[in-house]
Amino acid sequence: MAYWWQKGIIYQIYPRSFQDSNGDGIGDLPGIIQRLDYLAWLGVDAIWISPFYPSPMADFGYDVSNYTDVHPMFGTLDDFDRLVEESHRRGLRVIIDFVPNHTSDQHPWFQESRSSRDNPKRDWYIWRDPAPDGGPPNNWLSRFGGGSAWEYDERTGQYYLHSFLKEQPDLNWRNPEVRAAMLDVLRFWLRRGVDGFRVDVSFRVMKDPLLRDNPPNPNWREGMDPADRLIERYSMDFAPDIHQFNRWLRQTVEEFGKDKVLIGEMDLPFERMAAHYGKGDELHLPFNFRLLFSPWKADVVRQLIDEYERVLPAHAWPNWVLGNHDQPRIASRIGREQARVAAMFLLTVRGTPTMYYGDEIGMENVPIPPERVQDPWERLAPGFGRDPARTPMQWDDSPNAGFCPPGVEPWLPLAENYRTINVAAQRHDPTSMLTLTRALIGLRRAAPALNRGSIRTLDAPDGLLAYLREAPNERYLIVLNFTDQPQGALLPEAFSSANIVLSTYLDRNELVTNRELRLRPNEGIVAMV
Ligand code: GLC
Ligand code: CA
Repeated sequence: MAYWWQKGIIYQIYPRSFQDSNGDGIGDLPGIIQRLDYLAWLGVDAIWISPFYPSPMADFGYDVSNYTDVHPMFGTLDDFDRLVEESHRRGLRVIIDFVPNHTSDQHPWFQESRSSRDNPKRDWYIWRDPAPDGGPPNNWLSRFGGGSAWEYDERTGQYYLHSFLKEQPDLNWRNPEVRAAMLDVLRFWLRRGVDGFRVDVSFRVMKDPLLRDNPPNPNWREGMDPADRLIERYSMDFAPDIHQFNRWLRQTVEEFGKDKVLIGEMDLPFERMAAHYGKGDELHLPFNFRLLFSPWKADVVRQLIDEYERVLPAHAWPNWVLGNHDQPRIASRIGREQARVAAMFLLTVRGTPTMYYGDEIGMENVPIPPERVQDPWERLAPGFGRDPARTPMQWDDSPNAGFCPPGVEPWLPLAENYRTINVAAQRHDPTSMLTLTRALIGLRRAAPALNRGSIRTLDAPDGLLAYLREAPNERYLIVLNFTDQPQGALLPEAFSSANIVLSTYLDRNELVTNRELRLRPNEGIVAMV
């Protein structure tokens, strides 16, 4: 038996950018409802929606000022209930974002906490006296811009910790009242029918209680993210305490049954990521971000598969991510042609794929003119801004691409290429990226070998990646050409023939009987063997 989140495909929606329903240039929950038929047609199994909670939007919703409501800009709780109902009616699960590490500085909890040293909520956040010289309590750096992670509060003469913006104070999960309040947030949404949570920077929630200084990073060079000047030994992935946090979440979601999914956001090497599965009592899917930070090369990706499969505990289910709202678009990172190969990889590899909205049509990074920059990270560390990958979904070739009404200015500029790169244009084009993505999704859903079979990588000539997916009575061979040159591969002797069922060019169905597989530049194929 397999759970839905093992067989299924997750589609991430950045709600500001998916569909505007009321003409303010910002996407919203009713807008998502309008597009559910598209998602059902595409064939994904679940949507994950980035935060839509009340928020001053210092970090576009990752600074929550009320965990149990909807920001009026995105709609109402009724809209949310309708979204869950309409999704479920179409067989789509709903995963929402849970942001446990920090609140907004406008959250009433923090307002109380900062009001005086003896406020009952003082200890809900991480407050410390200044160092003897008056400076911050330790050397930890904020992820955005790499300044100190501590902000001095005049009124009470202490510093508070913020791993991200100073408008995002870190919660103190060691306080049992914080724990109780935050776990109740999960219950609030579970009662409204959600199917799981994507847990924002889950690996940062527990810190060293002694707040020891982080050591310097010997590999840091000028031009790298200034926040990486230190190795975050004490400020993230602090074991074993972090595993206790994972178990709190797991126990809470299991009050609502066994098939609610917990996805943890973390950027860790495989062995440390694998620890977050626990003994099957922690997270279901610690995000695997390795593809986001590795060169797109056949031998590198083969190594990633092999290493990941080696370190995963037997009970653990893998997952893969190619893009999200924090990273440049895949089509811009590796080029349009290779983006098709990458889609074939994501949808044929073993493990739950998470797709980022717009990648199915090959959306690219959109250059943002300085006067339209929104992401605070861009202001703190120019070049690191995430706006280029957060632009409005390109639905059709009308003014504003069908995202918002003509004449309205969308919150971020549209891609210039939206007249050709859009859903409507690609839907009926037999060789488009969208047609390819949908064909891959259809194949994956239909083939047990692809959605839950085993995986084995094979030796292949330079520039080619080959692997087998196997289930009882079914075997698929995937060969991906990572180069822009034609390539040939000799099929292993065990396979006398291969029946090509899909090519990234979408023009090939053929039976290869002489063991000689020819691939065109940037071509990937799926074959039954
Ligand atoms: C996560 C989110 C990112 C956000 C940060 C702080 O990394 O994905 O968008 O800015 O956490 O909450
Ligand atoms: Ca709107």
